[in-house]
Amino acid sequence: MTLDHLPPDLRRTRGCGEFRPEHAGSRAVVMGWVARRRDLGSLIFLDVRDRSGILQVVFNRETVPEAHGRAGELRSEYVVAMEGEIVGRDPATFNPAIPTGEVELRAARLYILNDARTPPFPIEDHITTAEETRLQYRFIDLRRPEMQAKIILRHLVALEIRRYMNEKGFLEIETPFLTRSTPEGARDYLVPSRVQPGCFYALPQSPQLFKQILMIAGLDKYFQIVRCFRDEDLRADRQPEFTQLDIEMSFAQPGMVFGLIEPLMQAICGVANQHWEKEGPRQKLNPPYRPIEVDTLTFPRLTYAEAMSQYGTDKPDLRYKAKIVSLDSHVSAKLAHESRIMPPIVGLKFSPDQPRSKTFVKTLIEDMVIPKAHSSLPDLKARQSEIGQDALFVDWCILGEGAKILKDAELALALRDKLGATDGDVIFLGAIRGTTPLRDLHLPHRCFDILRGLLANHSAGYTPQSKRFLWVTDFPMFDWDEEEKRYFAMHHPFTSPTVETLDLLETNPGAVNAKAYDLVLNGTEIGGGSIRNHRQDIQRRVFRAIGMTDEQARQRFGFFLDALEYGTPPHGGIALGLDRIVAILALEASIREVIAFPKTARAVDLMCEAPTTVSPAQLRELGLKLEKSDE
Ligand code: AMO
Repeated sequence: MTLDHLPPDLRRTRGCGEFRPEHAGSRAVVMGWVARRRDLGSLIFLDVRDRSGILQVVFNRETVPEAHGRAGELRSEYVVAMEGEIVGRDPATFNPAIPTGEVELRAARLYILNDARTPPFPIEDHITTAEETRLQYRFIDLRRPEMQAKIILRHLVALEIRRYMNEKGFLEIETPFLTRSTPEGARDYLVPSRVQPGCFYALPQSPQLFKQILMIAGLDKYFQIVRCFRDEDLRADRQPEFTQLDIEMSFAQPGMVFGLIEPLMQAICGVANQHWEKEGPRQKLNPPYRPIEVDTLTFPRLTYAEAMSQYGTDKPDLRYKAKIVSLDSHVSAKLAHESRIMPPIVGLKFSPDQPRSKTFVKTLIEDMVIPKAHSSLPDLKARQSEIGQDALFVDWCILGEGAKILKDAELALALRDKLGATDGDVIFLGAIRGTTPLRDLHLPHRCFDILRGLLANHSAGYTPQSKRFLWVTDFPMFDWDEEEKRYFAMHHPFTSPTVETLDLLETNPGAVNAKAYDLVLNGTEIGGGSIRNHRQDIQRRVFRAIGMTDEQARQRFGFFLDALEYGTPPHGGIALGLDRIVAILALEASIREVIAFPKTARAVDLMCEAPTTVSPAQLRELGLKLEKSDE
């Protein structure tokens, strides 16, 4: 049955979930999906669902025999239209679990708009269905209230962004998807051109060059909520296509970018708070949603060097306060018996949420930290072959316990003071064993970053539900690629070196710092940006530092180098990862949970089964030939 077959007076009055006691006595038309049917003989009860929620509908055989008869045919997920009167329920039958629980629709007419196959999994929250099945039947999955709540949150966040950016004088400007390669450190997705056989467009890894050109074009303040495409190894927080809030502003200093983003993040958190205040009780969130308090007007800042030495990572999770402490001078003489360890030597204090046994700590170190560090830190892996299994030195003691693992009591005492530890606390000591200098001076810190991650949940004062923002600034401009034996830009090569280190570009690129910054939230990098090279001569020097000849630079970025010569204002900007932000606000660990149609870790869309092979005719048209693979 189509809507054309319904009597003309059957127009949806409001969403199923919107009825309240004040609507009692009114006539209503609702349309939606059958969530549940209970047949009590003379009475049939339906729970009817749409995006706004659930309404109970009742059919009485005595008063509406025809509608009652038809209600008997209904099954889950049939699509129905009903007309009747909203009535207040007997208080004894109130359903406090749903916002419409004090009323019901006493139906007079029922129309079946469509039938439905039995869904592959229940349309309810907190299901344990495999993610592959959910992705394959995403149209069913998205019908579940918790998914709808996340999609609505994403919409509200995007709406707030547009409102805020407009208020601050930014223009939303679209940039091309079919374009040239922009290097952001990943592989490009390529699109063959039919009209220029043998030529390819690259899908943008970001609109970086276009937004800079918009500044050269005098558009002053740009933003865009834009899809970016990167062919890289996928993880819970990475998708091959993802969405950025991309921003660029002319005559910008880092402080201006921070001053723009901080109130925006507060506004977005406000939107999330309002949303979950409404949705939270309906979703029965576990743990329950606690409103985000972003109580500082400015977010804390750490330089990259500070972040690495205090937390062992450039995206520290500040919900957990424990910092890594450098212990070189305290320890080196004392650890003479461990002659093979070398600076840097680091310490960490762990104040457990409850007394912890030695077995707990020993298992943590031996079964988790050391294996994880050995497998996830490439530099340590390399070391392992040089010095065997025990490349990592970790020692510890529980303060106040008789038997000390850390054998030197005097040393334990000194560490206790240095780390501000008290009885019951555990102190950890870490370093690398070996005699050749470390390539990565932060290796022990990185191990302790892993340790911090494992300790957080067992620590006194850890606040998993809080939201801790942080700016990380002054990144190194370049990183050394051992395989390719060359430097590459840590952010991207359009980033400006700091004035103080600019002249090291030719002599010591490793010591050049960048006017680059990341925004970190609870240990996730949610944004990154920089002040750009607005002068063509400096841009060329940066290209040379990453091993690109003038000719190569011209070949790849000639249009951009040309544009830089036509009166480029100083400019800078940032891009925020919208998927990551919404995932954190939705208390989800994976960004797939807040993307309507995400891809799997193998970059496959399980619903529409993309990517696919194409017909020989299509390949011919594009002038392409596939090489036969061995399989
Ligand atoms: P960057 O590469 O740091 O900067 O990206 C900005 C932010 O985008 C998010 N992000 C991702 N989210 C999901 N899946 C991915 N594969 C993915 N990759 C990145 C992260 C990241 O912080 N053009 C520059 C910005 C600039 O300089 O203004 C850029 O794209 O949250």
